Parts: sequence; structure tokens; C-alpha cells
Amino acid sequence: MAKVTILYYSKTNKTKALAEVIKGILDPMLPGGFEIEVIPATTLEFERFKDSAAFIFGTPDYFSDVAGYLKIFFDDLWEQRADLQGRPAMGFVTHGGGGKATGALEHLCSSFKLNYVKPTISTDKPADEKLKAQIKANCAKLVKLLK
Ligand SMILES: Cc1cc2nc3c(=O)[nH]c(=O)nc-3n(C[C@H](O)[C@H](O)[C@H](O)COP(=O)(O)O)c2cc1C
Repeated sequence: MAKVTILYYSKTNKTKALAEVIKGILDPMLPGGFEIEVIPATTLEFERFKDSAAFIFGTPDYFSDVAGYLKIFFDDLWEQRADLQGRPAMGFVTHGGGGKATGALEHLCSSFKLNYVKPTISTDKPADEKLKAQIKANCAKLVKLLK
């Protein structure tokens, strides 16, 4: 079974809750033969993560940057970027009113030449219907990119 991995970090559960919302929206949109795997970044399971057809990255905004645990995946996998290049990806950020970490996440995905779906989902509130519609639109773009 091919998989789409949601890799996220969350300390106070806002990003985790959004990861669950995204999983719930994406799951019925996936073509046959694909499943969603959710990996908390704290597991540091680089090999399990790498073996994914597409990636969804979730992070709180920490000092206008991605959380350290998420960044460790990019740091660790840099030498394997040629394998990962071109894979579909999207991202989501929760924040306290700033949200500049979207730029940092996009920069990382661009450095790896991932096929990144924009705009990055960004919110300082629990997901409302408007945000869910944005997530659905991003998931539709991601699904189109799956091979
Ligand atoms: C160490 C730390 C740094 C943070 N820096 C920012 C920041 O620069 N900009 C911002 O908007 N929110 C910032 N926040 C708020 C978090 O991004 C926000 O509360 C986030 O939704 C927490 O996600 P979580 O519940 O998944 O852990 C920071 C929080 C912490 C703990």
C-alpha cells in the first residue's frame, strides 16, 4: 500500500488537532491503494517517513520558524534529497498570531525540490468551515499529483 505521511510536531495539541482534521478530509479523497500514516516528529523515524509517496508537514510557529523536531527530518534527510525530489507535499502551521513559519516551511520544501502545494495552511484558531474548505482545496491538488 502506498502512503501519504502526515509528519507533525505539537506540544500543546493545536497542531495535532489540525493534523487529525486534515487526515479526516484527505482520507475519503485518496485513490485506491493509498493510505495515510501519521508520524509525530518526536519519533525521529526517518526511514519510515522517507518511504512515502507524498508528505504533509505540520508545525507550530516557533520564533517564526518550524519546530526543531520537524527541522531534524530535513537536516537528517538532506543527503537523500535526490530520492525525495519531486514528491508531492503540503504543509500546515498553527501559530499565536504571527505565522511567519509558513515561509520557513516553504523554504525547506523548496530546498528539497518537493512538489509543494501552496498556500500553506496557517491558523491561530481551531479549524472552522472556511479553513476546512482551504484544506480540502489543497488536498485535491495533492491528490492530483499522486502517481
Ligand atoms: C517556544 C515558542 C515559540 C513561539 N513562537 C511563536 C512565534 O514566533 N509566532 C507565533 O505566531 N506564535 C508563536 N508561538 C505560539 C505557537 O506557535 C502556537 O501556540 C501553536 O499553535 C502551538 O502549537 P501546538 O499546540 O501544536 O504545540 C510560540 C510558542 C512557543 C512555545
